[in-house]
Amino acid sequence: MLDAVIDAIDGRMISIDGHWLADFASCNYLGFDLDEEIIASIPEMIDKWGTHPSWSRLLGSPALYEEIEHRTADLLGCEDTLVLPTITHIHMSVISLLAGSGTLFLDSRAHKTIYDGAQFARHHGATIKRFRHDDPQNLEQLLRADTGSPRLICMDGVNSMTGNAPDIRKFARLAREYDALLYVDDAHGFGVIGERSDEESSPYGMRGNSIVRHYGESYDNVILVGGFSKSYSSLLAFITCPTRLKSMLKVAAPPYLYSGPSPIASLATVLAGFDVNDQRGDTIRADLHRKTGRVLEALSELEISTPNQSGLPIIEIPLSKHEDIDEVGRFLFDRGIYTTIAAYPLVPKAEVGFRIQVTAANDDEQISKLIEVLTDLSTKFRLQTASTMAHWWEGNKVTHPVGR
Ligand SMILES: Cc1ncc(COP(=O)(O)O)c(C=O)c1O
Repeated sequence: MLDAVIDAIDGRMISIDGHWLADFASCNYLGFDLDEEIIASIPEMIDKWGTHPSWSRLLGSPALYEEIEHRTADLLGCEDTLVLPTITHIHMSVISLLAGSGTLFLDSRAHKTIYDGAQFARHHGATIKRFRHDDPQNLEQLLRADTGSPRLICMDGVNSMTGNAPDIRKFARLAREYDALLYVDDAHGFGVIGERSDEESSPYGMRGNSIVRHYGESYDNVILVGGFSKSYSSLLAFITCPTRLKSMLKVAAPPYLYSGPSPIASLATVLAGFDVNDQRGDTIRADLHRKTGRVLEALSELEISTPNQSGLPIIEIPLSKHEDIDEVGRFLFDRGIYTTIAAYPLVPKAEVGFRIQVTAANDDEQISKLIEVLTDLSTKFRLQTASTMAHWWEGNKVTHPVGR
């Protein structure tokens, strides 16, 4: 279940050495990787622009970039955006520029790529202070006691393991009150959650325009980072920024100056993805919500615990005995279910387990098969119960991201 060579795909089925499995490890939440309209958009763009621009963005960018940056800003409702190939490029360059020689307040469970960006910032003179995961009170204590300037608060939006999200309103308020900038990585929320509306097709909200809009927040003192490599199935990432900050990043962020850009096929699929999102996105999200609900309901009936309290399509199932993970992985593989294995030391022993991701491209037959396999798995292996998961709630104060 790790480092697999996948020799073919058929929808959300994958073949490994001729063995077919239902893929529940994909981050292509909206199924855009398989969408015919999006696939069909690529050849025309390649005819026009070739396969790859090759200039660093400082030298020049195809006009497609301007269009993408404008459309991203329109969707998110922010002043401006800058796009670079990946979120990792953004964290490794922008975090140190924003933190300068001031203080960086880092959520203790921030994604590894944020953590690495923070380490880089430390080498450039920033002081790092870690606050307890999703704990605004602890953050406030640190902010109150700190005299550094500038101040940057770095954290995730939708968490890549628990599928939960922090209540961003509390952190944005602290950022404004303590003259700090809140920097949020919503790699997994962008495309899935969005602005709330009485007409919304599911509690995920509308338009998939990410966590800031989901909570009805503004971009004052808030920087949002997200990527097109998950919901939009492409290779590109964005950072929201006032135009003045964008101008600074264009001369100071090394990936803008020196890195190669995304291939034309990726730019084409982002643009076609915007069209599909406008036309069918909310219907797709309603379907994703329904399918995820089927899995969560089955887990609840089987009394299998998961940290997921949000209803979002990231469902981790921790084991009681971390030593079982190899056997659990083999069981899932043999039964034709592919998931992400979270083994020690990638995660602490108490959190070893596997992560199911549901996408709109998983069909109902695959979901039924998943539920059948989980039912059998729960009779053969000890999974965590509500009481053994208590530590999750201590270290992982979760809020419900889809509540009003
Ligand atoms: C929260 C989060 N941030 C960043 C990344 C990395 O994104 P990218 O591949 O665009 O660098 C991931 C990838 O899984 C992620 O889950």
